[in-house]
Amino acid sequence: MNRNVSKDVQNLLDMLEDVTISSNRNTSATSRSPRSGDAGSDTELETICTTIEEVQALFREKKVKNVIVCTGAGISTSAGIPDFRTPGTGLYDNLEKYELPYPEAVFDINYFKNNPGAFYALSTELLPGLYGPTLAHHFIKLLYDEGILLRCYSQNIDGLEGLTGLHPDKLVEAHGSFSASHCTRCRLEIDNEIIFPALRAGTPYKCPECARIGRESYVKPDIVFFGESLPDRFHKLSQTDFKKCDLVIVIGTSLAVYPFAGLPNYVSKECPRLLINRELVGNFRHGRKDNIRDVFYCGNADDGCLLLADAMGKKQTVIDNQKKQADDIKNQNTENQKSSKLPKSDVTTPPSGAKSE
Ligand code: OAD
Repeated sequence: MNRNVSKDVQNLLDMLEDVTISSNRNTSATSRSPRSGDAGSDTELETICTTIEEVQALFREKKVKNVIVCTGAGISTSAGIPDFRTPGTGLYDNLEKYELPYPEAVFDINYFKNNPGAFYALSTELLPGLYGPTLAHHFIKLLYDEGILLRCYSQNIDGLEGLTGLHPDKLVEAHGSFSASHCTRCRLEIDNEIIFPALRAGTPYKCPECARIGRESYVKPDIVFFGESLPDRFHKLSQTDFKKCDLVIVIGTSLAVYPFAGLPNYVSKECPRLLINRELVGNFRHGRKDNIRDVFYCGNADDGCLLLADAMGKKQTVIDNQKKQADDIKNQNTENQKSSKLPKSDVTTPPSGAKSE
């Protein structure tokens, strides 16, 4: 599905999903929490899970084995990276200097093709390498280490999930990453050694191959822009993963961008859904009379994740791992700063050349 799918249409689909769940409530059986009355009677399903304490119990009693985590920008704000939509601090409230027609244009493929400058200028702040993973990222790594992480679906382009050492098989970078870059016209791949200096300098990089035949086109990291399709891996894995999932945890996202925002709806009707966020988003039924399996932890991602790590008896492990990595990154950045002050001749010159597909 394309990222420019109308939000209204998706909202409608979510509402239909709601209706389906409601109408199935009295006809479907649940393995984890059987109905309290006889088959066919007009009784409500028993509550599966509606409080954070109940989710903690699932971890304490080792009742979850296939956890899916869906992340957004809110998981990285404690690392110092702003999210997109929080009023005031969010990235989209702070783009005046780029004189965009509307804030999201900075990630719009059609706008980029003619105006790559804004994205390149913004990239100077977005490039991976400056920040370290948060406690919440290390909690996801803990789920992996414990063998109960089915998959982590991330909308983020900061690469922090992977930086914890999470195995790449366990990660779906739904909105792409900076790991490779291509010409938006001929798809020529350009080496990171070439494109990164351009991104760091905020200077749009023209495709040499297109220039050779008299065309003007720019190179873009493989971040999924509005108007582009999500990676095949996202579609392929999401079709099967969510059917197997026994707990989905959604962390730090406004669930405003589809198709990602629809993921929490793909789990079975008996699967508990935990939202760890500063605000209630999506179609989580928290606070509604008919809620039997949605949990909302209203607060910071790190705090919510530590509660779960605590239930697993691993809170201190998460804290130690995060601190150690943060210290390592700080030391590395200090080293890099020192070496960048060396005379030019002592700094390795990046190789030149383009990589063919
Ligand atoms: P948003 O900025 O839309 O949403 C972030 C959510 O996280 C909000 O609901 C915040 O309240 C919440 N939040 C912020 N800090 C938090 C914290 N420390 N703890 C808990 N919650 C916190 O970001 P996304 O949902 O990730 O596309 O945005 C989705 C996509 O929109 C992004 O992938 C991006 C953007 O266009 C790109 O392609 C780059």
